[in-house]
Amino acid sequence: MSAAGPDLVIRGGTIVTASDRFVADLAVTDGKITQIARRIEGGHEQIDATGLLVLPGGIDAHVHLAQEQGDGTVMADDFSSGTRSAIAGGNTVVMPFALQRRGQSLRQAVQDYHALAEGKCWSDVSFHMIITDPTPQVLGQELPALVREGYTSFKVFMTYDDMVLNDAELLEVFDASRREGALVMVHAEGHDAIKFMTRKLEERGQTAPYFHAEAHAQIAEREATHRAISHAQLVDVPIVIVHVSGREPMEQIQWARRRGLRVFAETCPQYIALTADDLKGLNMDFEGAKYVCSPPPRDSDSQAAIWQGLRDGTFDIFSSDHCPFYFQGEQGTGKDNARARTSFKWVPNGIPGVETRLPLLFSEGVSKGRISLERFVALTSTNPAKLYGLYPQKGALVIGADADITLWDPERTAPIMQESLHHGADYTPFEGRMITGWPVRTILAGRTVFQGGEIVEPEAKGRYLLRGKPLEVMPPI
Ligand code: URP
Ligand code: ZN
Ligand code: ZN
Ligand code: ZN
Repeated sequence: MSAAGPDLVIRGGTIVTASDRFVADLAVTDGKITQIARRIEGGHEQIDATGLLVLPGGIDAHVHLAQEQGDGTVMADDFSSGTRSAIAGGNTVVMPFALQRRGQSLRQAVQDYHALAEGKCWSDVSFHMIITDPTPQVLGQELPALVREGYTSFKVFMTYDDMVLNDAELLEVFDASRREGALVMVHAEGHDAIKFMTRKLEERGQTAPYFHAEAHAQIAEREATHRAISHAQLVDVPIVIVHVSGREPMEQIQWARRRGLRVFAETCPQYIALTADDLKGLNMDFEGAKYVCSPPPRDSDSQAAIWQGLRDGTFDIFSSDHCPFYFQGEQGTGKDNARARTSFKWVPNGIPGVETRLPLLFSEGVSKGRISLERFVALTSTNPAKLYGLYPQKGALVIGADADITLWDPERTAPIMQESLHHGADYTPFEGRMITGWPVRTILAGRTVFQGGEIVEPEAKGRYLLRGKPLEVMPPI
């Protein structure tokens, strides 16, 4: 603050929160929101936001950056390109994963990812840990210490050979999370069912990328979702079912909610904007690998169910599950590699989407009248902040909150094009989609970091966010 008043005043925009919208000015000093009023005088920097929406910065709570693959393929985004892509997509916080390799300590995993992130974050970041080796030492010693320090959420996998936990291990992890007040995110797909289906398909010579979608059947996702819910009920702990793909797992979540169980749910752009048919490529060819992710996109019936769930509160959060691979890349490093051409089971799972998450949900959801503006803000910013212990420092336009703000042009219409994105991948699965509603300016702690299609901040000024214990600080969602 100085004699001239606030550092920044954003004038005349429509401020949108998870519950309200109104035209007002918003003032920022020292990186915090200091005033919201009909008319605010002065300001060192002044932004005319007439005709624009003033939104809390997007929080993408499910992002994979710089994760080690172990099979020769490499992730197309490190922390630098991944967070640049994030701010260009209207986000101010991303939550990537710190992956524990089997045999590795959890502490070491967290330190490794801090080293990867150091000095490279254009947005704020906070890690979820991935637990692949839940030894008594990890759950009894390391986890409690890390949770106390502010690493308060982690993810477990019910499939993938190198990460899968069996039921006994899942129960132990859930129990530790209950004791420590942390929150577990569950990748719910039944491993044995997927392996069985994979073998059957391969025996029939059905090895093209498309058959990934058949191997990862919705039935296997539904079964694992129910199993995770049952285990969580037994232990009496809330869980988050991440990247829910369709009607059948949703029905399990609704079943749990009717019984009063605290089961939170996330869905992602691929489940509203893609279907399994996209995995067919041009003619069952390898182009389909561009859309291979787990769970796979389903069909139009599931898309309709997902929209209903986004409206009615079945879903709490909408994240990208950004997990970028090159399609080509250097020899053997992309999805298109010699082994992947022999079977879908070797195609790296994951698609890029941190930059297109907000535009896709806005355009398909708000612009087409399927969800309200307030719901858009709740799903993409406010609820992730509440769920993961960042609220109200993040996810809210209130006095005292961090001045993380996205100015949004609801009228701007332009297609998604690989050439205008900032991610490291060499393609986008959403190429050519016409989008109405784009971020035009991203403000991090009061500083404009992205404007008019360009990253304007010369330095990576993002901070690491330590978080509160979700099960203690979580406000109602
Ligand atoms: O296919 C996907 N989703 N890859 C990323 C890892 C995960 O399971 O979230
Ligand atoms: Zn000043
Ligand atoms: Zn997953
Ligand atoms: Zn993921």
